[in-house]
Amino acid sequence: MKKILVTRKLLKENDERIKNLFDVKLNEKDQLYSSEEILELSKDCDGILAFTTTPFNKDMIMNLPDSVKIISNYAVGYGNIDVEAAQKRGIVVTNTPEVLTDATADISILLLLGASRRAYEGRKAAEKENWLWSSDYLIGKQMTGKKLGILGMGRIGRAVAKRARAFDMEIHYHNRNQLSSDLEEGAIYHKDINDLFRNSEFLSINCPGSKDTENLLNEETIKNFPDRVVIANAARGEVIDDDAMIKAMKSGKVFALGLDVYRGEPKINKKYLDLDNLFLLPHLGSATKKTRIAMGDRAIDNLDALLNQNQVPKDKVN
Ligand code: GLV
Repeated sequence: MKKILVTRKLLKENDERIKNLFDVKLNEKDQLYSSEEILELSKDCDGILAFTTTPFNKDMIMNLPDSVKIISNYAVGYGNIDVEAAQKRGIVVTNTPEVLTDATADISILLLLGASRRAYEGRKAAEKENWLWSSDYLIGKQMTGKKLGILGMGRIGRAVAKRARAFDMEIHYHNRNQLSSDLEEGAIYHKDINDLFRNSEFLSINCPGSKDTENLLNEETIKNFPDRVVIANAARGEVIDDDAMIKAMKSGKVFALGLDVYRGEPKINKKYLDLDNLFLLPHLGSATKKTRIAMGDRAIDNLDALLNQNQVPKDKVN
């Protein structure tokens, strides 16, 4: 049997399956292994089942034992892995697309609603029992009929669009390439990101995290939004320049922000914590049992394809 290192804890349903297919080193205590520990533990392994909390930078990849043929990432994003370095070493990298699309799109909508309808301030007031209903109490911004910009119109972006249509929103998007009209379903393409921002009363960020998308929302680009825009980020924290965003939230340019992801998470730029117009979640995009089991299955399928079936895994990204 081929040997696999699993760097974090999987759900028990996935443990059972992976144990049937491989000789596995599980991480029962769900420790956050250091790079040195991963290098040591992977010494006699053929593959690694990795998580976004485990960085595989160039140095780390260069030092992996020759026996390691695949890093199967339990996530759709793979910004935690230096894919080029892996390619140079002949290591296949895979991800888990499709299975987390709906769960993550739901969280994007939750962020848009939570931010625009002031859920954080509402929760605080309800807990303190010091509020009195009145016609102008905690007035938020309503999504109905508004223009929604989607930054990154991949599977998740399109699933956000589908949900937003139920709010009668007009969908605008920016993507590296324009989609075919059957995938667009009436959404309006903006080749220039600033054109998208000019047309976004609400914005949902759903693009991958990479050097190309880092700080796409910055001091200059944020100026293009209509005043009092609501922004939600369920993609990667690095897409937003936090200092520029905080300034825009203070000035009222940004009415409210919803975040599920953070630069250097679990850390958060502390200046955010002085603000009330903020709705926060701790990276829950894919956090439902059904989705997590499906992600584990997909990551296991990719290991099985390469190591047991000698096939190219379906979700190879390099
Ligand atoms: C989660 O952030 C993922 O990329 O799957």
